[in-house]
Amino acid sequence: VDHVSVGLLGLGTVGSGVVRMIDSNREELQHRVGCPVYIEKILVQDIQKERLVSIKEDWLTQKPEDVLENTGIHVVIEVMGGIELAREYITLALKNKKHVITANKDLMALHGAELLQVANENGCDLFYEASVAGGIPIIRSLVDGLASDRITKIMGIVNGTTNYILTKMDKQKRNYEEVLKEAQSLGYAESDPTSDVEGIDAARKMAILSTLGFSMHIHLDDVNVSGISKVTQEDIEYARQFGYTLKLIGNAKKDNGKVEISVEPTMLPDSHPLASVNDEYNAVYVYGESVGETMFFGPGAGQLPTATSVVSDLVAVVKNMRLGVNGKNAVGPQFSKQLKEQSE
Ligand code: NAP
Ligand code: HSE
Repeated sequence: VDHVSVGLLGLGTVGSGVVRMIDSNREELQHRVGCPVYIEKILVQDIQKERLVSIKEDWLTQKPEDVLENTGIHVVIEVMGGIELAREYITLALKNKKHVITANKDLMALHGAELLQVANENGCDLFYEASVAGGIPIIRSLVDGLASDRITKIMGIVNGTTNYILTKMDKQKRNYEEVLKEAQSLGYAESDPTSDVEGIDAARKMAILSTLGFSMHIHLDDVNVSGISKVTQEDIEYARQFGYTLKLIGNAKKDNGKVEISVEPTMLPDSHPLASVNDEYNAVYVYGESVGETMFFGPGAGQLPTATSVVSDLVAVVKNMRLGVNGKNAVGPQFSKQLKEQSE
């Protein structure tokens, strides 16, 4: 490969961060992957909309085929969100032999195994580091870094919006609706924030982490979910009086082959390491039988942190292209077909 051309599906919060990073880190990227990386086309809904980043005039399109069937494009980055259309577009991109990177946890939690199989069948990579915990490389850490160990517990704060809301309600005594609006304007929340505040986004992320960490296919229905929409200022102050902090915690345990997963508002003693994870930051605690306790911390949402994970996936894809090992599971996270079958 003498260059790599990228097509984006979406140019909102995350897409703008990706464009910005590809532009501002151009030299570093070229050095790391051994060839220049270019943006070829970007699919959007509204071509007239003002953008968060400067773009070339001929980049934007409203025709999906300009990206998905463009023979000049090697890698498609899906950052538009939603489930059915994203599933259709990613499937088509893979069938057209394009590697795919996605930040879409909704899609990966529901259809990850199926899409990874399509990727394998077409000799393509499908990477999704940004789908869980924004800028924290937690998926690679589980799949590569801790690959030798038997993981029995994963616990964490995996939704930036709700952590931002709870932090501001606690530290600044501000009301829920006002802080939710702020989290939306900062680009942390989903386009419909119901999935954030009702714990569904966190449940999807816990399903992905548990599938990878426990080597079992975990369905969303396996996660007991309760969100923060009913948490009041009084609940937070009551916890504080007794030396506790209220956080939305994802908790997954594997014991004798049995898995229990929940997402719920939880009172943590102030001395607990997760109690001091504030604002849009996320943290994931992973316990492995051999390694013991590990903890991963960083920004869980937002333009550039999320783009960091997406563009790091791009580096991994291009390295695989140069080695000729795409779609061979040589590098990177996978839900295997075997795992899928175990659950059926
Ligand atoms: P966003 O700001 O709402 O941007 C979505 C983009 O996709 C927009 O540019 C929109 O076009 C385009 N789009 C949506 N539907 C489309 C359609 N049917 N056809 C063509 N274009 C379409 O969303 P975001 O916050 O960047 O999130 C994108 C994805 O990343 C989601 O899967 C989200 O869950 C995930 N994610 C987000 C964050 C975060 O912090 N925001 C972090 C991790 C993962 P227009 O601009 O023309 O409307
Ligand atoms: N809405 C998500 C959050 C974005 O607040 O964590 C990152 O996945």
